[in-house]
Amino acid sequence: MSDLKKIKEEFTQKLREKLNLSEINEIKSNLFGKNGLISSQFKKIGSIHENEKKKFASDLNIVKIELQDLINNKIKKIQNLEINEKLEKEKIDITLPERSFVRGKIHPVSQTIDKISSIFSEIGFSVEEGPDVENEYNNFTALNTPDNHPARDMHDTFYLDEKKERLLRTHTSPVQIRTMLKDKPPFKIIAPGRTYRSDSDQTHSPMFHQVEGLHIDKDVNMGHLKGCLNYFIKEFFEVKKIKIRFRPSHFPFTEPSAEVDIGYEIKDGKIVIGEGDKWLEILGCGMVHPNVLKNVKVDLAKFQGYAFGIGIDRLAMLKYGINDLRAFFDCDYRWLNHFGFDPLDVPTNYRGLSR
Ligand code: PHE
Repeated sequence: MSDLKKIKEEFTQKLREKLNLSEINEIKSNLFGKNGLISSQFKKIGSIHENEKKKFASDLNIVKIELQDLINNKIKKIQNLEINEKLEKEKIDITLPERSFVRGKIHPVSQTIDKISSIFSEIGFSVEEGPDVENEYNNFTALNTPDNHPARDMHDTFYLDEKKERLLRTHTSPVQIRTMLKDKPPFKIIAPGRTYRSDSDQTHSPMFHQVEGLHIDKDVNMGHLKGCLNYFIKEFFEVKKIKIRFRPSHFPFTEPSAEVDIGYEIKDGKIVIGEGDKWLEILGCGMVHPNVLKNVKVDLAKFQGYAFGIGIDRLAMLKYGINDLRAFFDCDYRWLNHFGFDPLDVPTNYRGLSR
């Protein structure tokens, strides 16, 4: 038998066996490598007698192509097998039950801030923000609060240094100062945010929320203040009639000053707004004190206006029937699930406080 025939038979036989890729590659290099069996046959062509040369060359080419085809087919088969195995292994089993999906809830305080912001924006207020860590000047001095005022006491205020220069703001009123120092009148802003006082019981927590309001323009008076707050409270509680009481009060940064209470009663363990003979204080307000306007260089001959500070948590408690303020900040998942709001249900133009 000629060498060529032998090679062909031997390797055709071999390639019928079960082989892996590296075994096939070995066969490939045995045949077609630099010194491979087929390559060596090609080198022999030159030394073959003229009469046989043509036939030999053509036979050799045929064997070469046959063996190459065999090898390529074998490789393709193996690759297909691998792909099928992979597909089989990585198959998604659509009969598996779905994983449970938990959608978060909007905290009632965030919901309340959203609601307050959208009500005030409808009557021309824009939203400002200030930092939780304030300096003593913006929180007290610029707001006409004297050194001996009780709010300055360590028992009331969280100071951040020995010199009492930096503190956690005790109210949102410093945003009035920041706004008026930064821009020129008129001003018509609200400023919702976190505030801090050294206080803790069923209706007081060391961290709570307020929204400040400030409206400074020519001829803004106490009547505008009453009208604005009346409108806001009715919109917020979604009622036509509500009992509101303006009680004369005192704040160093407003003159005259008032506190506003709303009437409520408790029916079957639930708070009912606008009825009954109980009163709940929800905000402080007044006409901005001339000393404050002087401190921020607003021309007293031309401008005047009102300011108010509303306790957001109290409003949320009243509106959503929550009777312990501390629950807001306990981070109890079950509580939040019950009182929280669906995030897809929040019609608002204000996206909450920046975190
Ligand atoms: N800052 C006051 C407080 O925290 C509320 C207030 C704001 C009163 C603006 C008058 C004007 O009690």
